Amino acid sequence: MIIKYPQELLDEADKRITGRKLTGFTPGQGPMHPDLMLVGEAPGRHEEQVNIPFSGASGQELMRFLASIGYSRANTYITSVVRRRPYSIKRVRDKKTGKVVEKTPNRTPTKAEVLAFAPLFDWELATVQPQIIVPLGNTALKRLLGPHANIGDLHGQKIVQPIQQATPDHTGYQWTKKKYLLVPMYHPAAVLYARRLMSTVEEDWQKLGKIIKSN
Ligand code: URA
Repeated sequence: MIIKYPQELLDEADKRITGRKLTGFTPGQGPMHPDLMLVGEAPGRHEEQVNIPFSGASGQELMRFLASIGYSRANTYITSVVRRRPYSIKRVRDKKTGKVVEKTPNRTPTKAEVLAFAPLFDWELATVQPQIIVPLGNTALKRLLGPHANIGDLHGQKIVQPIQQATPDHTGYQWTKKKYLLVPMYHPAAVLYARRLMSTVEEDWQKLGKIIKSN
């Protein structure tokens, strides 16, 4: 299921990212009330083209990790904290032709961009109501647990605590009254850059499988 976001929240996010380099729109996808809600950073170029979250190279790794604990895209909600692809503009010389060409590679969203989409994400979480939130990497983790949280310390751990949500005036974050169950994981792109992380990440997913069973 592709979620239908409230128009006023979409309009507000757009207003707040005016003039910034963000493009496309990839909605979150998956069933309501799932066991797992996987939360990434932002869509990349592949996601922007096909409008399916985690459908590119890191998505393939992610699907393998999910399958290793008996889950799939069909029974998992998949989203990210930013809905449009953040990009930068780079001018590079084409090696073959020698001509200068403009490239628009993906980049990490800024804190202001994550905050611009915060009310939309809060609405999404309240609507989907997952049993377990799985932040993938530092951008999603810090959005939910604050700037001091670090994926290197918290990966594969079961955490039950309040999370950050946008303040009523949407200018910052406040802690929820409610506690949530989170199990942070390394972003699947991390294993693409550092293969040595693979066994740690595979073990973390097995831990998540056990936490789901005992929940
Ligand atoms: N990285 C993310 O965080 N989300 C995607 O959908 C793809 C890559």
